[in-house]
Amino acid sequence: MLLDQQFLRIPGPTPIPPSVQRAMAQPMIGHRGNETSELLRSIKPRLKKVFGTDQDVMIVTGSGTSGLEAAVVNAVKPLDEVLVIVTGAFGARFVKICEAYGIRVHIYEVEWGKAFDPNEIRNYLRRFPEVSAVFATYCETSTGVMNPIHELASAVKEVSDALIIVDGVSCVGGVETKMDDWGIDIMVTGSQKAFMLPAGLLFIGVSERAWKVIDSNPNRGFYLDLTKYRKDLDKDTTPFTPALSLLFGLDQALAMMEKEGLENVYGRHTLMKEMVRAAFMALKIPLLTNDKDASDTVTAVQPEDFNAEEFRKVINKEFRLSVAGGQDRLKGKIFRIGHMGYCSPADVLQTLSMIEIGLIKSGKNIELGKGVAAAQRIYLEKGENMR
Ligand SMILES: Cc1ncc(COP(=O)(O)O)c(C=O)c1O
Repeated sequence: MLLDQQFLRIPGPTPIPPSVQRAMAQPMIGHRGNETSELLRSIKPRLKKVFGTDQDVMIVTGSGTSGLEAAVVNAVKPLDEVLVIVTGAFGARFVKICEAYGIRVHIYEVEWGKAFDPNEIRNYLRRFPEVSAVFATYCETSTGVMNPIHELASAVKEVSDALIIVDGVSCVGGVETKMDDWGIDIMVTGSQKAFMLPAGLLFIGVSERAWKVIDSNPNRGFYLDLTKYRKDLDKDTTPFTPALSLLFGLDQALAMMEKEGLENVYGRHTLMKEMVRAAFMALKIPLLTNDKDASDTVTAVQPEDFNAEEFRKVINKEFRLSVAGGQDRLKGKIFRIGHMGYCSPADVLQTLSMIEIGLIKSGKNIELGKGVAAAQRIYLEKGENMR
């Protein structure tokens, strides 16, 4: 085995493209100088495109969870009533954050592995007219579900003025996101997933409507007070020392996404999902989600007759191939394959091929090549634009 070779197919952090790695190795610059301002000036409009918004997207140093916390602390006050839609471990995280701030939480929980139905959310909300914000997860990484975020706001608006706050950590940048058209008030994502960067940056899109609520909130905390970021971003700077190396990397990652074309980036992710799903279906190994609810960025596999954790160990030992295990109540019951960011159909074919060997070595009786062939067929059918 090559000493420093590994195949990272977890749903984040994801592999870093060499040109992004090189960009991040640039010598440090002064964070209050012109070069940093120029960098931010160049990044601002490009992030807006990825988020599908006319509003500036805030850039904060922190992990994805601090983005969720920023949304909570800025948009909601202690004792406010909110609705959190829980479709897995990350929806549950919103509940924990809200509770930590003394916010009153109504939980609408959906069976893990399924997406929520916006009409049901609307009907549920009728009972709670005081709810001031609805929290949802775009891609629920723990189950591989992509929720119908594009339909959420219009359903909610029929019965409520609540803000729509979305965790897009594990998919924005890899799937279509139209904050303004869809009526999303706050959208959060992190750098270590579809943006092809290490962890450490988070991006927060905020609607005009949400800014009004945030501006009138008397207690927005300190570091995560988004009004500070808005004021400084307006002047092409940041309130605190930015993670400059990551900004160098972001500049290059955005350039890569632009060169490929955002529509093609999204098409590539859909194609990779279909390839992975076709492979497991051909191998007759169950998937946790149905086709309609499946995420373009992560696929959860639910083995029935072999042990998910043992299998993960086998492929790691054999090839240093990492896939993720299940979280929380799905621990030991599923494994999850990340196919986002710096990941191509070629990577998917290689991963599936290694997985088939791992399955054989885990004692599963499969016909070698059957899954790979199914994925190859999808590629030949639908992969025209991938070159
Ligand atoms: C959907 C989602 N939300 C939030 C997070 C938390 O991000 P972080 O671990 O960077 O705090 C993750 C991380 O996997 C995620 O997938």
